[in-house]
Amino acid sequence: MSNYHVKTLEEYFQLYRKSVRNPELFWEEIAEEHFVWRKKWDTVLEYDFSKPEFKWFEGAKLNITENCIDRHIHIRGDKTAILFEPNNPDEEAEHISYKELHKRVCKFANVLKEQGIKKGDRVCIYLPMIPELAISILACARIGAVHSVVFAGFSSTALATRINDCEAKMVITSDGSYRGAKTIDLKSIVDEALESCSSIETVLVAKRIHSDIELKEGRDKWLQPLLEEAYQDCVPEIMDAEDPLFILYTSGSTGSPKGMLHTTAGYMVYTAYTFKNVFNYKENDIYWCTADIGWITGHSYIVYGPLANGATTVMFEGVPSYPDFGRFWEIVEKHKITQFYTAPTAIRALAKENLDFVDSHDLSSLKVLGTVGEPINEEAWHWYNDNVGKKKNPIVDTWWQTETGGIMISPLPYLTPTKPTYATLPLPGIQLALIDENGKEIKGNQVDGRLCVKYPWPSMARSIWGNHQRYKETYFSAYDNMYFTGDGALRDEVGYYRITGRVDDVIIVSGHNLGTAPIEDSVNEHPAVAESAIVGFPHDVKGNALYGYVILKETGEERNQDNLRKEINQIITEHIGPIAKLDKIQFVEGLPKTRSGKIMRRILRKIAHNELDNLGDVSTLLNPEVVQNIIKERL
Ligand code: WT7
Repeated sequence: MSNYHVKTLEEYFQLYRKSVRNPELFWEEIAEEHFVWRKKWDTVLEYDFSKPEFKWFEGAKLNITENCIDRHIHIRGDKTAILFEPNNPDEEAEHISYKELHKRVCKFANVLKEQGIKKGDRVCIYLPMIPELAISILACARIGAVHSVVFAGFSSTALATRINDCEAKMVITSDGSYRGAKTIDLKSIVDEALESCSSIETVLVAKRIHSDIELKEGRDKWLQPLLEEAYQDCVPEIMDAEDPLFILYTSGSTGSPKGMLHTTAGYMVYTAYTFKNVFNYKENDIYWCTADIGWITGHSYIVYGPLANGATTVMFEGVPSYPDFGRFWEIVEKHKITQFYTAPTAIRALAKENLDFVDSHDLSSLKVLGTVGEPINEEAWHWYNDNVGKKKNPIVDTWWQTETGGIMISPLPYLTPTKPTYATLPLPGIQLALIDENGKEIKGNQVDGRLCVKYPWPSMARSIWGNHQRYKETYFSAYDNMYFTGDGALRDEVGYYRITGRVDDVIIVSGHNLGTAPIEDSVNEHPAVAESAIVGFPHDVKGNALYGYVILKETGEERNQDNLRKEINQIITEHIGPIAKLDKIQFVEGLPKTRSGKIMRRILRKIAHNELDNLGDVSTLLNPEVVQNIIKERL
């Protein structure tokens, strides 16, 4: 029995027990057999929850790109590593072989070096889903630079905040991007962001839409000519196991976005292992994850996990609705996709459209379907299962987070019997706990509580960039000796987990994690706004949408409410991005507050959910009278 590929359900249970009995041995055997190391580790794991500090494979030396590229060249050099499917279906798909990927990553790495990037420097990548995105990530890893990818749908303010937080020296971007029928002028967003960023020395610009843009003298450089001239081999920087690999920002319930710091060896081992098992990956598969690489899903399961296994990973530049709602299924048919991994919000959007969009395509190549990002509702699960999977493909509902680095709870396809809306069982090595209001672990089944992890795993984030204290407070202070996920979950009679959602003020909209506090800050910037509170409410495509309650300043003037709504959403778009726009904005006289002045979000949430007969205890409110008015005028 090899630890690396679980082949029966029986074996899963055995391995799971082994991974709990002796986690270090369990991970050591996997690390020994399936990766290339320049030097093996001295210790598998050292940890201290109170600091908190976690060190996996200390003493080991490696370069992750040797594992993702070099080692494959001799055995599968001509195999496609990255299959790029452009936005426009008439443009030809690009097959980048492992050999070719090696060359392109090395050239890019040499360009980074020539531009003064050294080991440990932060490089911000703000690119659309084009091959340069994956290649630039790998080029950073090749030379030991720390990449910080910012999703290219984020605004200039969001980009600037992230650049400044990690003091990046370089931005890699493109002239623009294609998104369905639209083109987006990325470079001007970068220009705007850089007005408030002093750490950036160089901007490398890839040509994608061939628009007429201006390069700022001394700062901006076209990428392609530099690549052409660069040498095609680059000796990998030898990294320590715990050297930083990347920073990726995620929102929290309060404060600025958190730069989750991931390190090298543990992240590599865990993403490779989980990719292999969760997708039951086999050598000739064509795997497609529809996420953007700007999110952790793309980092772990478009780039690192698949490439570490020598897989063919598809990168799709476009959107599911262009040129029509059959695009996903057209691509599945065209490239004979075997594993398809997407988000519930995409499934719900496509389920609204005519079934012919699905039925007119041959989906028989599919073997495994996956979902991630938010709880999948039963209806969407069945639609996916019936129409895409034709009831023969297992659906892996994978629960994890930016912070966890890799998938934590998921069925193993063809092994774990699935159950709609349940992420089912923890993967080997993942020790979960449900905690009650008093901070005590709830044992047994048919219970629910706050989801925690009580033993370290290799791909866990090691810190928040520049703020270890916040890392400690956010994840390790709620309960002793545990990682707190922020999610609630229930465990059914057989021990299956179902994630019930966030227990804090983070709202998942279309699979994107949005903290309410930063959105409220944006709303409050409107000169007419005195105060605001934002809650989520159910939305049949996005999962949740945002409902804002806004108090206006008293000026005596009449203001046009629709214009105000537009202006408020405009500010949100500028500060955060269009994903954070409010679907409903209700202007109110007051917000329900506790005696200590805290907004009672529970009540606002109930009103937004239209659960009016069950508002709960309002007796502790300072101003119970505002509640009836808010209800009367609810949208
Ligand atoms: C939050 C993490 C992990 C990549 C995408 C999101 C929610 C994620 C599931 C799932 C129920 C899920 C959780 C989690 N979530 N996957 N399968 N079932 N909820 O990464 O932005 O860090 O968000 O997404 O609430 O805490 P993220």
